[in-house]
Amino acid sequence: MSTSPGLASPIGVFDSGIGGISVLRALYAELALEKFVYVADAGHAPYGERDDAYLLARAHTITHYLIEQHAIKALVVACNTATAAAIRELRQTYPDLPIVGIEPALKPAAAASKTGVIGIMATRGTLNSEKFSNLLKSLHGAATFVLQPCDGLADAIEHDDAIKIEALCAQYTRAMGTFGLKFGEMDTLVLGCTHYPFIAQQLSKSVGANVIQLEGGAPVARQTRRLLTERQALAVEPTLSLVRTQRLAFFSTGDANALAAAALRWMGEDAGAQTITVLNLQASKGLVC
Ligand code: DGL
Repeated sequence: MSTSPGLASPIGVFDSGIGGISVLRALYAELALEKFVYVADAGHAPYGERDDAYLLARAHTITHYLIEQHAIKALVVACNTATAAAIRELRQTYPDLPIVGIEPALKPAAAASKTGVIGIMATRGTLNSEKFSNLLKSLHGAATFVLQPCDGLADAIEHDDAIKIEALCAQYTRAMGTFGLKFGEMDTLVLGCTHYPFIAQQLSKSVGANVIQLEGGAPVARQTRRLLTERQALAVEPTLSLVRTQRLAFFSTGDANALAAAALRWMGEDAGAQTITVLNLQASKGLVC
């Protein structure tokens, strides 16, 4: 395909799996006239325990696909791990494409915390990245950050494995220390992986309902609006019927049914029967690296 993007072109969004839907729902709410193409790279998930070369290759392959097949006008990397590993190279490769990434919400957490002790749950890949280490350095002295790599947690969420989710939530939050509002306790928890907002309730059981949980979808959506506004690339008012039938398209390189179920569950009626298109692209269209 590869036509030039226009105002009516969609915004591409990708993640290793269903996690990016937590960002997509913020984008969908913030940018009410825009269309979105979502790619879940579930055939290559989880990303969190992969090396940078692998993540770079996946990010390039998916971005190329979104540009060639969907003529996207902007890209949102709705994955902390892929952002840390690949966003700089993606921006170098596609200088004309607005690209927005996501990082763990440390700055908002430092502003919100009263005790000054903040827990961060993320993938090993995110926490070991240079990008994250720079972010941490930039906040030196602003708060105490307790880092917890959560091997296996995104995968358990991806597979909707309730027993494993509960066990890992308990294990990881216990390993971090004491949560609460008293001096020295963690009163804020950063959800540094886009899968984690979907287990907010389970986490709440482990850390307590009074601990603030911070995710990064809303700032990503605002930043996407800013970039599109600067480039005068925001969609103009379409007809209502166009909005309802064509705003969301979903693609998976893995289990299409799992993505369909998650889209319906987390995006609600708008991702329902007539608007959701889920294809398995694992063995076609150049998505396998
Ligand atoms: N959802 C992704 C993130 O924000 C990656 C999860 C994974 O595949 O390990 O880091």
